[in-house]
Amino acid sequence: MTFRTLDDAKDLARKTALVRVDFNVPMEGGKVTDDTRLRVALPTIQRLRKAGARVVLLAHFDRPKGQHVPSMSLKPVVAPLSDLLGVPVHFADDCVGPHARSALDHLESDGVLLLENVRFHASEEANDPGFAQAMAGLGDLYVNDAFSAAHRAHASTEGIAHLLPAYAGESMRRELDALDAALGNPQKPVLGIVGGSKVSSKLDLLKNLVGKLDRLAIGGGMANTFLHAQGVDVGGSLCEKDLADTAIAILAEAAARGCEILLPIDVVIATEVKPGAETRTVLAREPIADDEKILDAGPLTVEKLIKAMALSRTLIWNGPLGVFEVPPFDAATVKAAQAAAKLAKTGALVAVAGGGDTVAALNHAGVVDDMTFVSTAGGAFLEWMEGKPLPGVEALKV
Ligand code: 3PG
Repeated sequence: MTFRTLDDAKDLARKTALVRVDFNVPMEGGKVTDDTRLRVALPTIQRLRKAGARVVLLAHFDRPKGQHVPSMSLKPVVAPLSDLLGVPVHFADDCVGPHARSALDHLESDGVLLLENVRFHASEEANDPGFAQAMAGLGDLYVNDAFSAAHRAHASTEGIAHLLPAYAGESMRRELDALDAALGNPQKPVLGIVGGSKVSSKLDLLKNLVGKLDRLAIGGGMANTFLHAQGVDVGGSLCEKDLADTAIAILAEAAARGCEILLPIDVVIATEVKPGAETRTVLAREPIADDEKILDAGPLTVEKLIKAMALSRTLIWNGPLGVFEVPPFDAATVKAAQAAAKLAKTGALVAVAGGGDTVAALNHAGVVDDMTFVSTAGGAFLEWMEGKPLPGVEALKV
């Protein structure tokens, strides 16, 4: 995939760069509680400032649905971002119109200006050309550094990219390179781990992966649906029984495409999902009682998975193997994550992970820094794993 990066952006001095970032950060009581996404934006902001450009940040927060919702203002981001950058960050109460223009007129040559939530305008999600033009009129070039919002064809992520010279920012570039190394153009053999609760939310993803991977381990609640489809009694476990035929079709497709599917061979069960609950570990094929639930993969399954990692050159991981938020049902996820991180650290495995719960699970296992790459994207990571083109990325292609 070839896309324009900041290496292609020349003569930036005295220019104004409109940078789309993803500041959809966790917030409580008007305070940012996790600044990961602010940190992700720093390399691009600093590179542009160093080159003498003014940086104008475009971002959304939450889903105000085209209304001006004061609790969804981006203002609380100003102070933590300014602390991280070590320079003042200015703020404008609107992303277009007189407020934005006046703030821009007062912005110093390498200054940073954050514009208010683009989703306060309904035209943002409608990808309205006039609105995209109004934003584009504020700058000389456009930089998209928000991979995690790139699955949205909105004015600030897609429309505007056609109106100005458009580039991928530093984090976007890192993300695209890592994803390409994991699935686009990976070193083989490639192992996938897909976990999480429901098959129904990951159907497209599973269908795409079985055509691309050498091995695919299915874990979490969704594995129960596959076990049930194979005639296993899963008792009171989470299970989408109506998807049994779909599960069988996915297994058949995997067999036809030469993708080995790894399902749990043993499981950890309990009657209650509570910290420190009493558990039993049984072989997956053993019947369990109606009030018992499968809540984690067992040690034999993890051992088999770790062996599969050792046979692989690339790992792509989305979704936990059990209810990792409630120990002891975190054991399989933690053990597998630590094994992946260990192999990644030695360079034996390219280990890329992302999507929703996955980052939280890897954080819980304490291995985020040792993985080759961990994406902060949720929906965008999933859509990319499903093989869908991401409008925000497509618009940057040369
Ligand atoms: C995210 O947090 O995944 C992105 O910011 C996208 O947000 P959205 O799902 O509201 O478009």
